[in-house]
Amino acid sequence: MKEWNYVIDCDPGIDDCFALLMCLKRLPVAGVVAVGGNTGLQYTERNARYILELAGYEDIPVYAGYDMPMINQIVRATEIHGSGGLGNTVVPEPKKQLEKQHGVDYLIDTFMNRDDVSLITLGPLTNIAQAILKEPELKKRIPQILCMGGSAVSGNTTPAAEFNIYVDPEAAKIVFESGIPIRMVGLNVTRQNRIVPEDVDRIRAMGNPVADFAAELLSFMGNGYVALCDACAVAWAVDPAIITKSAKIPVKIETKGEFTRGMTVCDWRNYQCQNPEMDIAHDQQRFLGEPEDANVEVALEFDKDRFHRTLFEILESYGN
Ligand code: BDR
Ligand code: CA
Repeated sequence: MKEWNYVIDCDPGIDDCFALLMCLKRLPVAGVVAVGGNTGLQYTERNARYILELAGYEDIPVYAGYDMPMINQIVRATEIHGSGGLGNTVVPEPKKQLEKQHGVDYLIDTFMNRDDVSLITLGPLTNIAQAILKEPELKKRIPQILCMGGSAVSGNTTPAAEFNIYVDPEAAKIVFESGIPIRMVGLNVTRQNRIVPEDVDRIRAMGNPVADFAAELLSFMGNGYVALCDACAVAWAVDPAIITKSAKIPVKIETKGEFTRGMTVCDWRNYQCQNPEMDIAHDQQRFLGEPEDANVEVALEFDKDRFHRTLFEILESYGN
Protein backbone atom coordinates (compact mmCIF):
# COMPACT_ATOMS: atom_id res chain seq x y z
CA MET A 1 0.00 0.00 0.00
CA LYS A 2 1.21 3.50 -0.84
CA GLU A 3 2.69 5.45 2.05
CA TRP A 4 1.10 8.92 2.01
CA ASN A 5 2.36 12.14 3.48
CA TYR A 6 -0.36 14.50 4.65
CA VAL A 7 -1.12 18.17 4.37
CA ILE A 8 -3.56 19.24 7.08
CA ASP A 9 -5.80 22.24 6.50
CA CYS A 10 -7.35 23.26 9.81
CA ASP A 11 -8.72 26.01 12.07
CA PRO A 12 -7.40 25.21 15.58
CA GLY A 13 -9.71 25.13 17.54
CA ILE A 14 -9.69 22.69 20.46
CA ASP A 15 -10.56 19.50 18.58
CA ASP A 16 -8.21 20.47 15.74
CA CYS A 17 -5.39 20.48 18.32
CA PHE A 18 -6.23 16.90 19.30
CA ALA A 19 -6.36 15.90 15.64
CA LEU A 20 -2.96 17.49 15.02
CA LEU A 21 -1.48 15.74 18.05
CA MET A 22 -2.73 12.40 16.74
CA CYS A 23 -1.44 13.00 13.21
CA LEU A 24 1.98 14.27 14.30
CA LYS A 25 2.76 11.04 16.17
CA ARG A 26 1.29 8.59 13.69
CA LEU A 27 1.44 10.09 10.18
CA PRO A 28 4.12 11.79 8.09
CA VAL A 29 2.84 15.39 8.09
CA ALA A 30 4.26 17.47 5.24
CA GLY A 31 2.71 20.79 6.20
CA VAL A 32 -0.14 22.52 7.99
CA VAL A 33 -2.33 25.25 6.49
CA ALA A 34 -4.52 27.41 8.70
CA VAL A 35 -7.91 28.79 7.73
CA GLY A 36 -10.27 31.17 9.52
CA GLY A 37 -13.12 29.21 11.07
CA ASN A 38 -13.53 28.47 14.76
CA THR A 39 -11.84 31.82 15.28
CA GLY A 40 -9.90 34.32 13.19
CA LEU A 41 -6.89 33.32 11.10
CA GLN A 42 -4.52 35.33 13.30
CA TYR A 43 -5.32 32.84 16.09
CA THR A 44 -5.73 29.64 14.08
CA GLU A 45 -2.30 30.02 12.44
CA ARG A 46 -0.70 30.90 15.77
CA ASN A 47 -2.37 27.93 17.46
CA ALA A 48 -1.11 25.62 14.73
CA ARG A 49 2.43 26.89 15.25
CA TYR A 50 2.05 26.62 19.01
CA ILE A 51 0.84 23.03 18.99
CA LEU A 52 3.61 21.91 16.62
CA GLU A 53 6.20 23.57 18.82
CA LEU A 54 4.75 22.13 22.02
CA ALA A 55 4.66 18.66 20.48
CA GLY A 56 8.27 18.93 19.27
CA TYR A 57 7.47 19.08 15.54
CA GLU A 58 8.59 22.65 14.88
CA ASP A 59 10.24 21.56 11.61
CA ILE A 60 6.87 21.08 9.94
CA PRO A 61 5.93 24.29 8.08
CA VAL A 62 2.76 26.21 8.89
CA TYR A 63 1.08 28.47 6.31
CA ALA A 64 -1.78 30.92 6.59
CA GLY A 65 -4.58 30.72 4.04
CA TYR A 66 -7.84 32.66 3.95
CA ASP A 67 -9.54 34.21 6.95
CA MET A 68 -12.91 34.93 5.34
CA PRO A 69 -15.33 32.65 3.55
CA MET A 70 -15.76 33.13 -0.21
CA ILE A 71 -19.02 35.10 -0.06
CA ASN A 72 -20.59 34.31 3.29
CA GLN A 73 -20.58 36.60 6.29
CA ILE A 74 -18.03 35.47 8.87
CA VAL A 75 -19.32 32.81 11.27
CA ARG A 76 -17.12 31.78 14.21
CA ALA A 77 -17.44 29.17 16.99
CA THR A 78 -15.75 31.18 19.75
CA GLU A 79 -18.45 30.21 22.23
CA ILE A 80 -17.17 26.63 21.91
CA HIS A 81 -13.45 27.20 21.37
CA GLY A 82 -12.86 30.53 23.15
CA SER A 83 -12.01 33.80 21.43
CA GLY A 84 -8.41 32.72 20.82
CA GLY A 85 -9.47 29.18 19.83
CA LEU A 86 -7.90 27.43 22.83
CA GLY A 87 -10.56 27.85 25.48
CA ASN A 88 -9.31 29.91 28.41
CA THR A 89 -5.74 28.85 27.80
CA VAL A 90 -3.46 31.76 27.09
CA VAL A 91 -0.44 30.69 25.07
CA PRO A 92 2.74 32.64 24.39
CA GLU A 93 3.64 33.67 20.86
CA PRO A 94 5.53 30.61 19.55
CA LYS A 95 9.14 30.91 18.42
CA LYS A 96 8.22 28.93 15.36
CA GLN A 97 7.65 31.33 12.46
CA LEU A 98 4.80 31.34 9.99
CA GLU A 99 5.91 30.56 6.42
CA LYS A 100 5.81 33.56 4.08
CA GLN A 101 4.11 31.76 1.20
CA HIS A 102 0.30 32.02 1.14
CA GLY A 103 -1.40 28.78 2.20
CA VAL A 104 -3.25 28.49 -1.11
CA ASP A 105 -0.02 28.75 -3.10
CA TYR A 106 1.56 26.14 -0.85
CA LEU A 107 -1.37 23.79 -1.56
CA ILE A 108 -1.00 24.38 -5.30
CA ASP A 109 2.81 23.89 -5.29
CA THR A 110 2.59 20.79 -3.16
CA PHE A 111 -0.12 18.95 -5.05
CA MET A 112 1.07 20.01 -8.51
CA ASN A 113 4.60 18.78 -7.82
CA ARG A 114 4.28 15.79 -5.52
CA ASP A 115 2.61 12.43 -6.00
CA ASP A 116 2.96 11.22 -2.44
CA VAL A 117 0.77 13.69 -0.56
CA SER A 118 -2.85 13.40 0.53
CA LEU A 119 -5.09 16.04 2.13
CA ILE A 120 -6.92 16.23 5.44
CA THR A 121 -9.37 19.09 6.08
CA LEU A 122 -10.63 19.96 9.55
CA GLY A 123 -12.12 23.39 8.96
CA PRO A 124 -14.12 25.35 6.40
CA LEU A 125 -13.09 24.41 2.85
CA THR A 126 -12.20 27.96 1.79
CA ASN A 127 -8.49 27.37 1.13
CA ILE A 128 -9.09 24.23 -0.89
CA ALA A 129 -11.78 25.84 -3.03
CA GLN A 130 -9.65 28.93 -3.65
CA ALA A 131 -6.74 26.69 -4.62
CA ILE A 132 -8.93 24.76 -7.07
CA LEU A 133 -10.18 28.00 -8.63
CA LYS A 134 -6.63 29.28 -9.01
CA GLU A 135 -5.26 25.98 -10.35
CA PRO A 136 -8.07 23.79 -11.75
CA GLU A 137 -5.57 20.98 -12.47
CA LEU A 138 -5.64 20.32 -8.73
CA LYS A 139 -8.89 18.44 -9.32
CA LYS A 140 -6.78 15.72 -10.91
CA ARG A 141 -3.77 16.12 -8.65
CA ILE A 142 -5.22 15.86 -5.14
CA PRO A 143 -5.55 12.09 -4.69
CA GLN A 144 -8.04 12.21 -1.84
CA ILE A 145 -9.52 14.46 0.82
CA LEU A 146 -10.29 13.16 4.29
CA CYS A 147 -12.78 15.75 5.47
CA MET A 148 -14.26 16.43 8.87
CA GLY A 149 -17.44 18.13 7.82
CA GLY A 150 -21.11 17.72 7.20
CA SER A 151 -23.34 15.02 8.48
CA ALA A 152 -25.30 12.06 7.21
CA VAL A 153 -28.07 13.09 9.58
CA SER A 154 -28.50 16.52 11.17
CA GLY A 155 -26.32 19.56 11.77
CA ASN A 156 -24.90 21.40 14.75
CA THR A 157 -24.72 25.07 13.73
CA THR A 158 -28.23 24.80 12.28
CA PRO A 159 -30.62 21.85 12.32
CA ALA A 160 -29.41 20.98 8.83
CA ALA A 161 -25.81 22.18 8.62
CA GLU A 162 -22.55 21.25 10.28
CA PHE A 163 -20.19 24.13 11.19
CA ASN A 164 -17.34 23.57 8.68
CA ILE A 165 -19.73 23.40 5.74
CA TYR A 166 -22.04 26.11 7.06
CA VAL A 167 -19.21 28.64 7.36
CA ASP A 168 -18.42 28.48 3.64
CA PRO A 169 -21.01 26.52 1.65
CA GLU A 170 -19.82 27.87 -1.71
CA ALA A 171 -16.32 26.58 -0.99
CA ALA A 172 -17.69 23.20 0.09
CA LYS A 173 -19.74 22.99 -3.11
CA ILE A 174 -16.64 23.59 -5.25
CA VAL A 175 -14.72 20.92 -3.37
CA PHE A 176 -17.53 18.33 -3.30
CA GLU A 177 -18.18 18.83 -7.02
CA SER A 178 -14.49 18.75 -7.95
CA GLY A 179 -14.30 15.02 -8.63
CA ILE A 180 -11.58 14.62 -5.99
CA PRO A 181 -12.35 11.43 -4.02
CA ILE A 182 -13.65 12.49 -0.60
CA ARG A 183 -13.89 10.54 2.62
CA MET A 184 -16.28 12.37 4.90
CA VAL A 185 -16.44 11.99 8.66
CA GLY A 186 -19.51 13.91 9.72
CA LEU A 187 -21.42 14.54 12.90
CA ASN A 188 -23.29 11.24 12.54
CA VAL A 189 -19.99 9.56 13.50
CA THR A 190 -18.34 12.15 15.71
CA ARG A 191 -21.45 12.40 17.88
CA GLN A 192 -20.95 8.75 18.77
CA ASN A 193 -17.88 9.80 20.72
CA ARG A 194 -17.76 11.35 24.18
CA ILE A 195 -14.81 12.40 26.27
CA VAL A 196 -16.07 12.45 29.85
CA PRO A 197 -14.59 14.09 32.97
CA GLU A 198 -12.89 10.80 34.00
CA ASP A 199 -11.06 10.81 30.67
CA VAL A 200 -9.83 14.32 31.37
CA ASP A 201 -8.52 13.17 34.78
CA ARG A 202 -6.76 10.27 33.08
CA ILE A 203 -5.12 12.58 30.55
CA ARG A 204 -4.04 15.01 33.29
CA ALA A 205 -2.49 12.14 35.25
CA MET A 206 -0.21 11.27 32.30
CA GLY A 207 2.06 14.03 33.51
CA ASN A 208 3.61 15.31 30.31
CA PRO A 209 3.31 18.88 28.96
CA VAL A 210 1.27 17.89 25.90
CA ALA A 211 -1.19 15.88 27.98
CA ASP A 212 -1.42 18.73 30.51
CA PHE A 213 -2.26 21.11 27.69
CA ALA A 214 -4.81 18.65 26.26
CA ALA A 215 -6.51 18.30 29.66
CA GLU A 216 -6.66 22.06 30.05
CA LEU A 217 -8.30 22.43 26.64
CA LEU A 218 -10.87 19.78 27.44
CA SER A 219 -11.84 21.26 30.75
CA PHE A 220 -12.99 24.39 28.90
CA MET A 221 -15.48 22.40 26.83
CA GLY A 222 -18.80 21.72 28.57
CA ASN A 223 -17.48 20.00 31.69
CA GLY A 224 -15.45 17.59 29.66
CA TYR A 225 -18.38 16.03 27.73
CA VAL A 226 -16.78 16.51 24.38
CA ALA A 227 -17.07 14.82 20.98
CA LEU A 228 -13.65 15.90 19.55
CA CYS A 229 -14.95 15.82 15.96
CA ASP A 230 -11.65 16.52 14.20
CA ALA A 231 -9.78 13.85 16.16
CA CYS A 232 -12.47 11.30 15.25
CA ALA A 233 -12.03 12.24 11.60
CA VAL A 234 -8.26 11.85 11.43
CA ALA A 235 -8.66 8.45 13.08
CA TRP A 236 -9.62 7.15 9.61
CA ALA A 237 -6.07 7.87 8.46
CA VAL A 238 -4.30 7.15 11.75
CA ASP A 239 -5.93 3.74 12.20
CA PRO A 240 -8.44 2.85 9.47
CA ALA A 241 -9.93 0.08 11.62
CA ILE A 242 -11.49 2.77 13.85
CA ILE A 243 -14.07 3.46 11.12
CA THR A 244 -16.01 0.23 10.98
CA LYS A 245 -18.59 1.07 8.37
CA SER A 246 -18.88 3.49 5.46
CA ALA A 247 -20.83 3.82 2.24
CA LYS A 248 -20.08 5.53 -1.05
CA ILE A 249 -23.01 7.72 -1.99
CA PRO A 250 -23.77 10.97 -3.82
CA VAL A 251 -23.42 13.99 -1.51
CA LYS A 252 -24.42 17.47 -2.63
CA ILE A 253 -23.90 20.77 -0.83
CA GLU A 254 -26.99 22.92 -0.34
CA THR A 255 -26.22 26.59 -0.93
CA LYS A 256 -29.67 28.05 -1.42
CA GLY A 257 -32.11 26.62 1.10
CA GLU A 258 -33.75 28.95 3.59
CA PHE A 259 -33.35 26.37 6.38
CA THR A 260 -30.84 24.04 4.79
CA ARG A 261 -27.97 26.22 3.54
CA GLY A 262 -24.73 24.38 4.24
CA MET A 263 -26.34 20.97 4.48
CA THR A 264 -24.57 17.91 3.08
CA VAL A 265 -27.47 16.32 1.21
CA CYS A 266 -26.79 12.59 1.31
CA ASP A 267 -28.56 10.44 -1.24
CA TRP A 268 -29.45 7.17 0.45
CA ARG A 269 -32.01 6.11 -2.11
CA ASN A 270 -30.09 3.01 -3.11
CA TYR A 271 -30.12 1.75 0.45
CA GLN A 272 -33.54 0.41 1.27
CA CYS A 273 -34.24 -0.80 4.76
CA GLN A 274 -36.83 -3.53 4.84
CA ASN A 275 -37.00 -3.44 8.59
CA PRO A 276 -38.27 0.00 9.61
CA GLU A 277 -36.51 -0.25 12.98
CA MET A 278 -33.12 -0.46 11.33
CA ASP A 279 -31.49 2.65 10.04
CA ILE A 280 -28.97 2.87 7.25
CA ALA A 281 -26.04 3.19 9.58
CA HIS A 282 -26.74 -0.07 11.33
CA ASP A 283 -27.90 -2.40 8.65
CA GLN A 284 -27.80 -2.26 4.92
CA GLN A 285 -30.86 -4.38 4.28
CA ARG A 286 -31.04 -4.08 0.53
CA PHE A 287 -28.42 -2.37 -1.57
CA LEU A 288 -29.45 -1.43 -5.10
CA GLY A 289 -25.90 -0.69 -6.28
CA GLU A 290 -23.54 2.25 -6.17
CA PRO A 291 -24.93 5.21 -8.13
CA GLU A 292 -22.72 6.56 -10.90
CA ASP A 293 -22.57 9.96 -9.26
CA ALA A 294 -21.45 8.60 -5.86
CA ASN A 295 -18.69 11.07 -4.93
CA VAL A 296 -18.18 10.63 -1.21
CA GLU A 297 -17.31 7.72 1.06
CA VAL A 298 -19.36 8.57 4.12
CA ALA A 299 -18.26 7.16 7.48
CA LEU A 300 -21.16 5.58 9.34
CA GLU A 301 -19.87 3.66 12.33
CA PHE A 302 -16.78 3.82 14.44
CA ASP A 303 -15.10 1.84 17.16
CA LYS A 304 -15.25 4.22 20.08
CA ASP A 305 -13.13 2.05 22.40
CA ARG A 306 -10.40 1.64 19.83
CA PHE A 307 -10.44 5.39 19.19
CA HIS A 308 -10.09 6.12 22.92
CA ARG A 309 -7.27 3.61 23.29
CA THR A 310 -5.43 5.20 20.36
CA LEU A 311 -5.95 8.75 21.57
CA PHE A 312 -4.76 7.95 25.11
CA GLU A 313 -1.77 5.98 23.82
CA ILE A 314 -0.74 8.91 21.66
CA LEU A 315 -1.11 11.51 24.40
CA GLU A 316 0.84 9.30 26.77
CA SER A 317 3.60 8.79 24.20
CA TYR A 318 4.38 12.52 24.28
CA GLY A 319 6.00 11.82 27.65
CA ASN A 320 8.52 9.33 26.18
C1 BDR B 1 -16.28 21.12 13.43
O1 BDR B 1 -16.54 22.49 13.73
C2 BDR B 1 -15.51 23.04 14.48
O2 BDR B 1 -16.01 23.80 15.53
C3 BDR B 1 -14.66 21.90 14.96
O3 BDR B 1 -13.29 22.29 15.03
C4 BDR B 1 -14.88 20.83 13.92
O4 BDR B 1 -13.97 20.96 12.85
C5 BDR B 1 -17.38 20.28 14.05
O5 BDR B 1 -18.62 20.66 13.54
CA1 CA C 1 -11.94 22.28 13.05
